[in-house]
Amino acid sequence: MSQTAETAALIRARAGDAPVRLGLILGSGLGHLAGAVDGPAIPYADLPGFPHAGVSGHDPHLHIGMLGGARVAVFGAREHYYENGNAAAMRGALEVLRELGARELIVTNAAGSLRPDIRPGDLMLLSDHINYNGRNPLIGEKTDARFVPMTDAHSPALRAALKAAAAAEGIALPEGVYCWYSGPSFETPAEIRMLKLLGGDAVGMSTVPEVILARFLGLEVAAISTITNMAAGMSDENISHAHTKAMAPLGAAKLERILRHFLQSRI
Ligand code: HPA
Repeated sequence: MSQTAETAALIRARAGDAPVRLGLILGSGLGHLAGAVDGPAIPYADLPGFPHAGVSGHDPHLHIGMLGGARVAVFGAREHYYENGNAAAMRGALEVLRELGARELIVTNAAGSLRPDIRPGDLMLLSDHINYNGRNPLIGEKTDARFVPMTDAHSPALRAALKAAAAAEGIALPEGVYCWYSGPSFETPAEIRMLKLLGGDAVGMSTVPEVILARFLGLEVAAISTITNMAAGMSDENISHAHTKAMAPLGAAKLERILRHFLQSRI
């Protein structure tokens, strides 16, 4: 048995056999959404192939169960590229997600805004991204499947459904382009001015490798940023990880309403 099949079997033994509809990766400070899942929380440490995430503000458990009427797998933590320099750190976990039956993935993150009209506490739906880091999780993959097309990588169908859910909940969900910067240091004001020139609307340290991996694995994917701060040089506020964790819950409540509505509409 492959490691993916083994880990999936382990999860089924603890969480039941019913197929998972959708995966959800939670970003910094968004962990309380995991508590809304009606089902077991399995430590990543028990799951071969899963990352050993160690960033504060992240909960390294896989939560499997019902949320908004759909059976979901919620990843309480991700391994970021900046932790170990591994862009493919989430590959094993996403392979297991597919093995469990999911065909859709929603990725969330905390991000800094490059747009004056998108403020801390707001959400942004990713219309597209810029892999400014340049690293790619498929480097080293030997099959021709590595040549993944990235046009419409952010699923138009999932985005339309998320926008409809946001509108029904009366929550603004503007779309924009997310830039992946490796971190863990934040950007300089000059780098932010550059990213604006390049067409970026938000900046963060995650998500892009997961979107690439999802497309490689044939999953439909969409991503939402919780804006925790204006990017470097755009306001007087301090940019820090503590600030990110403190601000993320502002957007998290809105995110939870959107996701519940979205899941109800897709049963
Ligand atoms: N830059 C990068 N990552 C982030 C930011 C930021 O300003 N805010 C939250 N995550």
